[in-house]
Amino acid sequence: MASFANPFAGNVPRKMTKEELIQAIRLNIAGELEAIFVYDAHVQATDDPLAKKVIADIRDEEKAHVGELITLLRILDPEEAEHFAEGEGEVKEMLEQLNITPKPHFKNNSVKD
Ligand SMILES: [Fe+2]
Repeated sequence: MASFANPFAGNVPRKMTKEELIQAIRLNIAGELEAIFVYDAHVQATDDPLAKKVIADIRDEEKAHVGELITLLRILDPEEAEHFAEGEGEVKEMLEQLNITPKPHFKNNSVKD
């Protein structure tokens, strides 16, 4: 989460190599996931309707950021994208074994036949 004590903590003293950029994107994804976790905890911890709505909206924007970063990672690292696809395929097989039909949004957008 935030580390305000050191304003230079995120600085990189030079341009990153592609491999370093890929690592940085993984770190960015972890930061977005942590933000989602914290915002969601705050949504669950308040009954104030406005605060709940605003914080939930921000939480959902962070989810979109995860999608953007994963898409970027897939483009920058096609081999990693193959691993993602492998994992998606394994879950799809498990769904079929358990005779579970995912909701249309998931089926159409996330798991390819
Ligand atoms: Fe974000």
